[in-house]
Amino acid sequence: MNATIDHMTAALNDCEENSPFLLENEGAYQAWRLRKLKLREQLPASRVFELDHEHRLPQSLLPQLRLQVSAFNFVLFQSESEISKSEFLRLNRQFGLFRLDSNLGADVDKVTSLRVVSDSDERAQYIPYTNRALNWHTDGYYNPHGRRIGAFALYCVNQAERGGGNYLFDHELMYILIRDQAPDLLAALMDDDLMRIPPNIQNGRVIRAQESGPVFSIQSDSCGLNMRYTSRPRNIVWKSDKRSERALNLVREILMDSDAVIDLRLQNNQGIVCNNLLHGRQAFHDQGEQSSRLIYRARYYDAIDFDRAQEPQAAEV
Ligand SMILES: [Fe+2]
Repeated sequence: MNATIDHMTAALNDCEENSPFLLENEGAYQAWRLRKLKLREQLPASRVFELDHEHRLPQSLLPQLRLQVSAFNFVLFQSESEISKSEFLRLNRQFGLFRLDSNLGADVDKVTSLRVVSDSDERAQYIPYTNRALNWHTDGYYNPHGRRIGAFALYCVNQAERGGGNYLFDHELMYILIRDQAPDLLAALMDDDLMRIPPNIQNGRVIRAQESGPVFSIQSDSCGLNMRYTSRPRNIVWKSDKRSERALNLVREILMDSDAVIDLRLQNNQGIVCNNLLHGRQAFHDQGEQSSRLIYRARYYDAIDFDRAQEPQAAEV
């Protein structure tokens, strides 16, 4: 265990030397920022990449996929026919996503089948398993330090008749907007005690221990930017000093006013692979009693890393 922590600390130290996400590295930040904003101008965010007949992304698309992720932190894809859950996981491995997170509602293969469940199902208490709207969040913001979510993927087997769209906001763009106008507030968002999640206790059993942490941090293995956030007021305690309040208000203002919000409504056989950016979901409705909306979701401790996917052992998986 200690060896793991030592390894993570060493990895983080390596990241910090050149990371554009540390306030002291102004040169690295400006270079990274310039490239990212330029790419965002040049590329269409809503480009949909076609899978081949084996439900893989052709290797020839790799250079464009890399640019798409650098610009927007997500890639949209579609298949000619429905893909299986194992093909979905294989596709995600092309993005260097291997270490799956599990959660209470996940299937045995750690893919979660997001659908409306009956009231008697214990998952019905969680909004993802209802047809209600989900406000701005990043996935697994309540996870403990060693299980931060770096990326996730969705695949739409069946979309609802009405609603069910998603909206996205690139967390790296949020970082840029805050750092450019208020670096002191960005520092507040990197404070380790900014966000506290009370324990999840049900029937006297601790399902999840209390968890504290920052909004923005540097992912130790990828050196990428990780964001933890929820706009839900329930089950979360924010640090209440003035600077923290101003920082959180700025995040909310940007989400409300920015024209950088991307609306996305996955069609059947379409999906998204993304780093853990800010997102939400609209409410949805189907005719008839039983909703047929079905989305597969996989969450990963890894962030997208095409080089990891290219390693020899990855090709065998
Ligand atoms: Fe989510």
